[in-house]
Amino acid sequence: MPESPIRKLVPYAEDAKKKGIKVHHLNIGQPDIKTPEVALQAIKNNTLEVLEYSRSEGSEEYRTKIAAYYSKNNIIVSATDIIVTTGGSEALLFSFGSIMDVDDEVIIPEPFYANYNGFSIASGVKVVPVVSNIDNNFALPPIAEFEKLITPKTKAILICNPGNPTGYLYSKEEIKKLAEIVKKHDLFLIADEVYREFTYDGLEHYSIMQETGLEDHAIMIDSVSKRYSMCGARIGCIVTKNKEVINTALKFAQARLSPPTLAQIASEAALDTPQIYFDNVIKEYVERRNILITELEKIDGVKVAKPKGAFYCIAELPVKNADHFAQWLLENFNLDGETVMVAPASGFYSTPNVGLNQVRIAYVLNQESLIKSVKILKAALKAYNS
Ligand SMILES: Cc1ncc(COP(=O)(O)O)c(C=O)c1O
Repeated sequence: MPESPIRKLVPYAEDAKKKGIKVHHLNIGQPDIKTPEVALQAIKNNTLEVLEYSRSEGSEEYRTKIAAYYSKNNIIVSATDIIVTTGGSEALLFSFGSIMDVDDEVIIPEPFYANYNGFSIASGVKVVPVVSNIDNNFALPPIAEFEKLITPKTKAILICNPGNPTGYLYSKEEIKKLAEIVKKHDLFLIADEVYREFTYDGLEHYSIMQETGLEDHAIMIDSVSKRYSMCGARIGCIVTKNKEVINTALKFAQARLSPPTLAQIASEAALDTPQIYFDNVIKEYVERRNILITELEKIDGVKVAKPKGAFYCIAELPVKNADHFAQWLLENFNLDGETVMVAPASGFYSTPNVGLNQVRIAYVLNQESLIKSVKILKAALKAYNS
């Protein structure tokens, strides 16, 4: 199993903290945004006397309510098209296990969410990357590039929309192109849509589940982690109209018995979160993104792709080896007793030696911290390169 590039430098961050250095965590998608009050109240006011297992596919009430939430977002599904999982992470694992055998192949535009590497290895599946590029903001590579990579072992194309780590938001046209290719070659299209709400500049998210004719091919991965800043609830789901996939995923779900019961109650309550919560959160992320990108672009030799969604960006730095630089930041550098932790981007690629001079930055901290973090980064690059 590969290490997570997001977490592998944690021991160095802990050592820095022991030395009294404040570490700004730009490495991980753990927002500082408050969880909606309705979800917290559902936990605080709970009167359960036995914390029982729930049904393996998740409670009926919760699945019904999720289906209603999707229909408000033009995704027409029913409770039986949904399996509740322990985070989007388990939804990905179950999906891989349900549709692929050992040695099968999944095509993924890279850079991609680093744990796709881990889930693939755990499932014995080979990742076949199709490279997207910082110079065109990580747009979908030409369809011909996908077709070149399809072999008899290819079972699926996996996209993350909006993207972690690129912040790329696929257009309706791009989704339609992908739909065509999966239908033509009889593949699955898995879309990780855990950042669906986080789209900026008036752009709208278009889900693979909105695409007609894709019912047998589309598998959507979802999670409450980011939508409601409930990463610790560990609740996600698989959504698909393909009954064979649901039935197979259910067997995986039965083997692990049940998703967390209390967290399902909180997640169900979270579905009543008022729109104003999202309006404020989106406004905050847009401001953070704008500050981060503007400040990063002021640093000599730094290139950054402007995210259209989610809350990450990939930045190219004037260093040869961002892994070394990221560790050095924690071990050897501080500005007035403060430093930053970033995620080296090489772990978000499966092609060797790509992204070596890139890092992923999560804009999950408040604006003051972000400004300070970029100031630290700028001073650090100067010191590192001199
Ligand atoms: C793109 C993407 N998918 C899935 C996950 C898994 O999240 P969780 O298991 O908390 O739902 C994450 C977490 O950061 C993510 O960024």
